[in-house]
Amino acid sequence: MSTITIPVHTSSRAYDVLVGPGVLDQVGEVCARCAGGTVAAVISDSNVAPLYGQRVLSSLERAGYRTALLTFPAGEQNKRLSTLETLLEGLAAAELSRDDVVVALGGGVTGDMAGLAAALYLRGIQVVQVPTSLLAMVDSSVGGKTAVDLAHGKNLAGAFHQPSAVVVDIDCLKTLSHELFSDSCGEVIKHGVLADPALFAHLAKHPLNAPDVTSDELVSVVARNIEIKRNVVDADEKEHGLRQTLNLGHTLGHAIEASSNFTLGHGSSVAAGLCCIARGAAAKGWCSEDCARQIERATLAHGLPIDTSVGHETIFAFATHDKKRHGSTINVVIPHAIGSVSVRTITFDELAELIELGCNAHPSSEVSL
Ligand SMILES: NC(=O)c1ccc[n+]([C@@H]2O[C@H](COP(=O)([O-])OP(=O)(O)OC[C@H]3O[C@@H](n4cnc5c(N)ncnc54)[C@H](O)[C@@H]3O)[C@@H](O)[C@H]2O)c1
Ligand SMILES: [Zn+2]
Repeated sequence: MSTITIPVHTSSRAYDVLVGPGVLDQVGEVCARCAGGTVAAVISDSNVAPLYGQRVLSSLERAGYRTALLTFPAGEQNKRLSTLETLLEGLAAAELSRDDVVVALGGGVTGDMAGLAAALYLRGIQVVQVPTSLLAMVDSSVGGKTAVDLAHGKNLAGAFHQPSAVVVDIDCLKTLSHELFSDSCGEVIKHGVLADPALFAHLAKHPLNAPDVTSDELVSVVARNIEIKRNVVDADEKEHGLRQTLNLGHTLGHAIEASSNFTLGHGSSVAAGLCCIARGAAAKGWCSEDCARQIERATLAHGLPIDTSVGHETIFAFATHDKKRHGSTINVVIPHAIGSVSVRTITFDELAELIELGCNAHPSSEVSL
């Protein structure tokens, strides 16, 4: 399959996402064309840098850049201000000027932190995102959200900073663990439910984490996911309305993830949260029973959990945790049919009812990866 180019047009910047096999070797020419400058600093983590760092540096050097590689220890626990400070000092030491470019090579942690470093350094220089995990490809690399975590919670300090280009080399997924790949399929299923019955039907029949999935299939599914996120972000760059629909499955998903003390992966938690909210919505008559069953079946086909054994009160407490200060309502994304959802403002009492109706329906079907 040839490479697919997806144009993104946010109000602050227009850029292309390039998806295909082997496109890592094109990072240099893409940077030269879309960002310019003479110095390129590649920011990567301790797992990804040894795998792909040299190829990206070589590509940049072939395109005429002087390069630097800044590596930080892998893991969410390092998505912190202290790591950001080290990266910013690294950019200064490499003498990047306002015209130069940061290349974010890695998963969502790298993309978020390198994006924020680029947003802050000299009050903002360009960044090219090169996502290497499935989550970063289908979710975090497009849309311009960047952040680090604080002791008080995840992603609490950040900025909107759109990339100048995104380069998605599908071949990088070959080195990602099966567990991480499968976990992120939860977000892929979410995109199908959100906006695309054809994608959803395909996933239900041909799980993305099946051993026989082809490179062509990966290119087309990843590209479709990026288009879905692009459509939402183009319409609502700063999350005033439509962008909230991307939180489908996340209100209950976050609660399930947090109450597992983050031992259950984010994508698996979102998958379980999606099934719970769909069952709750079906019981309320907001979507059909058949829609909820279809979501469960596609989730099970990926080996992801369709329910949780965490008690109703605990889920409610986590779901309303930082919302309490804003009164007694909460915005929840409700599926109506495959491809159709809406953001509904409901009372805490209605949320409790949805949790009661949707969670612990069949906790014995909790599948762990
Ligand atoms: N900015 C956004 O819009 C947005 C959206 C969703 C999630 N996020 C953020 O993304 C982060 C999660 O992303 P993630 O799951 O990619 O985490 P991650 O960056 O920690 O990557 C997961 C693990 O996979 C490794 N890895 C990545 N690509 C690899 C490859 N090709 N081969 C081998 N190993 C590889 C990483 O080193 C890491 O150990 C969270 O911090 C989350 O807050 C941001
Ligand atoms: Zn998510």
